[in-house]
Amino acid sequence: MKDISTLAVHAGEISPRIEGAISMPVFQSANFEFHDEGDYANIKYARLNNTPNHLALHAKLAALENGEDALVLASGMAAISTTLLALLSKGDRILTQKTLYGGTFSLLAQELARFGIEADVAADENWEAKIRPETRMIYAETISNPLMEVPDFQKVLATARKHKLISVIDNTFASPVNFKPIDLGFDLSLHSATKYLNGHSDLIAGCVIGSKARIKTISHTAAHLGATLDPHGCSLLHRGLKTLGVRVERQNQTALRLADFLSHHENVATVNYPGLPSHPAHSRAREYFKGFGGMLSFELKNPSQVESFLGRLKIPVLAASLGGVESLVIIPARSSHLSLTAEERRQSGITDGLIRFSTGLEGADDLIADLKQALG
Ligand SMILES: Cc1ncc(COP(=O)(O)O)c(C=O)c1O
Repeated sequence: MKDISTLAVHAGEISPRIEGAISMPVFQSANFEFHDEGDYANIKYARLNNTPNHLALHAKLAALENGEDALVLASGMAAISTTLLALLSKGDRILTQKTLYGGTFSLLAQELARFGIEADVAADENWEAKIRPETRMIYAETISNPLMEVPDFQKVLATARKHKLISVIDNTFASPVNFKPIDLGFDLSLHSATKYLNGHSDLIAGCVIGSKARIKTISHTAAHLGATLDPHGCSLLHRGLKTLGVRVERQNQTALRLADFLSHHENVATVNYPGLPSHPAHSRAREYFKGFGGMLSFELKNPSQVESFLGRLKIPVLAASLGGVESLVIIPARSSHLSLTAEERRQSGITDGLIRFSTGLEGADDLIADLKQALG
């Protein structure tokens, strides 16, 4: 099995099928009979992320990105915080790209800093300049939220190799359909499974994919922190994953059309989408991505018209999050990046008028017609 859609449907499925069930049954049990498992991690207790629903998901997620193993957790932030807390200690430093998802930025600035784990930010992709003897980890996002920047992956990996850093990437925006970071050499790939992996806006979940040894270390910390996805949540994610391939391929196609339409509209000032030739990292995106993803952001020429534009839209829903079947629109400065100060947003290039668009599964012609009427 090689094709992502085949893997999404079949990888990790329990064999033989339980009572012949085509769909994975839900093992809604907190604990299971004890059989002298020998190792704490093997005791069958749902907080240890080892119910049949967890194990099947781990195998499926690992297969989707060619990792040795995976761990599913209760949210994308649980996957990020558990990974960082498992692999970093007091006095260690983490080097990150300039613009990160707001929650990750705040986790570093407001929480980990209190425990003596400091973050440095690589400006203008100059990762080397910020390396210190204490730097242990390098952290990037495949497509940054909300500016859709695409880092120079080879530069990140070369820096990691040279300084023996753990390389971690948040692959949420690309999804395994468009990019497989472990194939390129990243140690760990993280996802907010709330987004494309589940794809139906009805679940909060996260995961981390990597080597058996690292996933074991992270699982150990996960058992202490306790941000476990319950078996029913696992089954929702399992079901959502089966359609990942077709969903994301369609979202790639529609988003490219929307970005192209917006980039030619007289009332639009800028469009951020890696699939557009005008995007600063377009050639990099072409080299590494199978598709350019469903996320784009743009600014109107007249920022005072943002409110009326949003009010006129009929199809996209004004809501946070992304990657679901319904198109969503949001102002990052007032939602995903609200926890940053105005100055932090300014430094990150996130203006108050920036509009972020998550492309759903509606017809591209309908979405374009809607954007057209709303733009006036
Ligand atoms: C890129 C990225 N990473 C991580 C997260 C956090 O995920 P969750 O909301 O599932 O905790 C988000 C949420 O929007 C995100 O956009």
